[in-house]
Amino acid sequence: MLVLGIETSCDDTGAAVLDDGRELSNAVASQDAVHRPYGGVVPELAARNHILHVVPVVERALGEARVGLGDIEGVAATYGPGLIGSLLVGLSLAKGIARRRGLPFVGVNHIEGHLLSIELDRRIERPFLGLVVSGGHSALYWAEADSSYRLLGRTRDDAAGEAFDKAAKLLGLGYPGGRAIEQAALSGDPNALQLPRPRVRGAALDLSFSGLKTALWQKLEREPGSRLEDVAASFQQTIVEILVDVTRRAIAQTGATCVVVTGGVSANQALRQAMERMAVQEGALLLVPPLKRCTDNAAMIAYAGWRRLARGERDPLTLNARADLPLGARSIAA
Ligand code: KG4
Ligand code: ZN
Repeated sequence: MLVLGIETSCDDTGAAVLDDGRELSNAVASQDAVHRPYGGVVPELAARNHILHVVPVVERALGEARVGLGDIEGVAATYGPGLIGSLLVGLSLAKGIARRRGLPFVGVNHIEGHLLSIELDRRIERPFLGLVVSGGHSALYWAEADSSYRLLGRTRDDAAGEAFDKAAKLLGLGYPGGRAIEQAALSGDPNALQLPRPRVRGAALDLSFSGLKTALWQKLEREPGSRLEDVAASFQQTIVEILVDVTRRAIAQTGATCVVVTGGVSANQALRQAMERMAVQEGALLLVPPLKRCTDNAAMIAYAGWRRLARGERDPLTLNARADLPLGARSIAA
């Protein structure tokens, strides 16, 4: 089954074509340059730029897959969570194509897309523990059977990627911040600065990153002579330790033997290496997507959509975008 997937939940415009779950193309138009002057995504600008790019990106995805719109047999698009104006652009185009061509359509949860992105390269053993760490999300899920997820824990304030972005802005490293901090950290001492590792009282699997950003700001005020590389390395190390610790606690709670770490922050090499060491210690298999699939892309959306389409599932063309779309119910134990 040839599936066209469209992703416009935040600031990347993506379109991809899959053949029975196998990637034929995965086109992305980045808006980094548009948002860079502001140090973060400006929702209004993101929506306007999706309008400019979405049709050319779909055409590019079809061209790279060497298929025409007439060959497509199903359409999938992200319908949440994300920025509402951005979501509406991709979702509306997908519904328009489905309607015009009489094709089956499904809406995809962006977080499920991230969690399943690994299956474009290899099967994931179920049940598995999934950590999604990106610019908009930081949450732990217990994935059981198909489309059955339990939320184990989530950030109470900033997402991990957001923390990287805000710290990079503070350090004058530009946007997006994660990669810039990772680069600067390469020649820094991760133990140079002691930063707090906030824990959420009474919720062992919840996270909090906003205090970290404030602590960093206070440190820089008090110790203005700190080397930029040392600050970046210490900040990165702190986030890595927080994420590794919470994942270790989640493994202990669930007995997981397979752990998936995904989302933009999973591109971070220090995080990948620390997670791998922890997984080996805990006797779990760690799965992380290849770098090109860590950040937002439409192949992961087309894949999650194809699984539902192939099972005969359909969504009505009245499906609306939802900025706060949840994935699975909150686990009572968490
Ligand atoms: O998954 P993604 O593309 O978009 C969302 O769904 O939010 O993630 C983007 C986030 C940004 O905050 C960016 O700074 C972060 O992922 N990121 C990284 C790295 N590459 C991207 N964070 C740390 N290290 C990286 N190498
Ligand atoms: Zn994402």
